[in-house]
Amino acid sequence: MSKLIKAKIIGTGSYLPERVMTNHDWEKRVDTSDEWILSRTGIRERHIAAANQANSDLVYEASIRAIQSAQIDKNDIDLIIVGTISGDTAFPSTGNWVQKKLGLKPIPSFDVGAACSGFLYGLIMANSLIKTGVAKRILVAGSEIMTRIMNWEDRNTCVLFGDGAGAVVLEASQDESGIMSTYWGADGNLGELLYQPAGGSAIPASIESVKNKLHTIHMKGNDVFKHAVLRMQEAAIKAIELAGLTSEDIALYIPHQANIRIIEATIKRAKIPLEKTLINIDKIANISAATIPIALDQAVREGRIKPGDRVLMSAFGAGFTWAGVVVRL
Ligand code: ACO
Repeated sequence: MSKLIKAKIIGTGSYLPERVMTNHDWEKRVDTSDEWILSRTGIRERHIAAANQANSDLVYEASIRAIQSAQIDKNDIDLIIVGTISGDTAFPSTGNWVQKKLGLKPIPSFDVGAACSGFLYGLIMANSLIKTGVAKRILVAGSEIMTRIMNWEDRNTCVLFGDGAGAVVLEASQDESGIMSTYWGADGNLGELLYQPAGGSAIPASIESVKNKLHTIHMKGNDVFKHAVLRMQEAAIKAIELAGLTSEDIALYIPHQANIRIIEATIKRAKIPLEKTLINIDKIANISAATIPIALDQAVREGRIKPGDRVLMSAFGAGFTWAGVVVRL
């Protein structure tokens, strides 16, 4: 009997722009304080992309590192998926720009717009495409320049976000390693609690839309928070169950980093100890789809996870969208 094919992560990479902006820097721009930001969110600082960097430049840097760590020829990649809500252009997709920058042949490449769940959505799709034989080696990235789509004068949102990219290379697994479970969902009824109203066909760009800052993130933070806690818990618990595991089998949990209080509530309910949870929100803030692949790469490079380990990842974001994945390294 032939073994069931799974998709395995064979390389990881990440990139954070050089410029760091601290909470104290924000104190000089809006009516806020380091104490408020840190106690309400867990954030101390975030990275900010340089003016001449586009989203695909960040993906390029992360991808080169992922390809190097996978020890493959970049020309062996046969598909690119980029999770992002802050792409270079409305079209073509950031995936297409990345394909150009990496100098790859005309392989399919596209974006997934699932906000903070974008990387995990991409991973779930890549897993299915590998399992069905449609693709053999897929580059999945999560990348954002959130600081270009936020309102720098709105203290309710501007202090929360940062920029960066992470990427992985996936291929068909020949052994026990690979994606063990996937769980995802979305509820469009709640879309207006967190969205960028203008720039699409609903509200095209106009002098009014720009004046009213409709091209930036609008969020009802309190309402989003309540849903985020419930869905992050659901995604984590379901992904563990679907993998046929218990929380004790998880070597490391990598949650989306939107708010330290959401992470604390999730690990309490999912019975995952703090020591087995990767928290880097203090250093990078919320980078939407890029958060999880950046953290995964950090965990690999710091030796926090090793071959054979089972890693849980879960995310919640605008849409609303949510997802959970367990992968065996
Ligand atoms: N500095 C100082 N005070 C502030 C700031 C700030 N930066 N921002 C808001 N406040 C004030 C508010 O004006 C409010 O004042 P008021 O009581 O006088 O009206 C007070 O602080 C409390 O505001 P709340 O919104 O109730 O604060 P809360 O404790 O809910 O924290 C936060 C806000 C951090 C945004 C939280 O609600 C949160 O994390 N929400 C979820 C975010 C999330 O998960 N997003 C999903 C992913 S993002 C994506 O998909 C793109």
